[in-house]
Amino acid sequence: MAVGFSEETLKKFDRIVSRYPKREAAMLPVLYLAQEEFGYLTTEAIEYVAKLMGVAPARVQGVVTFYTMFYTKPIGRHHIQICRTLPCALRGAEKISAFLKKRLGIQTGETTADGKFTLSEVECLASCGTAPVVQINDAYYESLSEEKVEEILRSLK
Ligand code: FES
Repeated sequence: MAVGFSEETLKKFDRIVSRYPKREAAMLPVLYLAQEEFGYLTTEAIEYVAKLMGVAPARVQGVVTFYTMFYTKPIGRHHIQICRTLPCALRGAEKISAFLKKRLGIQTGETTADGKFTLSEVECLASCGTAPVVQINDAYYESLSEEKVEEILRSLK
C-alpha cells in the first residue's frame, strides 16, 4: 500500500518547511509529523519523506536511526525509556531496569503482548540531578524507586 500524508498533514508539512531556509533543515519536525501520521517509520515512510524533502532516502534513514525518538517498528502505547548513563547508573538505574523487565515480562527493545508497554534504554535524559530517571512518552519520572515505578505503571491505562 502506498504511504502518504493526509491532506491535513500535508498542510502542516507546508507550514513547517516554510519556516526553514532549506527543506532539509526541517527534517526533525517533518519526521515527527510522519511518525504522528504513520505511528512508526517504515522503509516506505522514509522513502516518502525523502521524496517530500528532496533528499536521498539514506539521508532520512540516517536521521531516523540516529535518534531514539524515532521508531522503525510498532511500539507500545507507553514507551518507557530508562536512562542508563553514569549518574543514573550510580543512583540505581540498573535496579529499576531489572524491576521493569521482571514486572513487564519483557527485555529492552521489546513490547508487551498487549501492546501497552515498550521498554528502551537510552543515554542521558538531561535530568541527572533527579536520577534515576525514566521518560514515558513525553513525561519525565524522577528520583525513582521500585515502589514509585510500580505506582506509575498502575496509573497508566
Ligand atoms: S544520567 Fe540520567 S538523566 Fe542524566
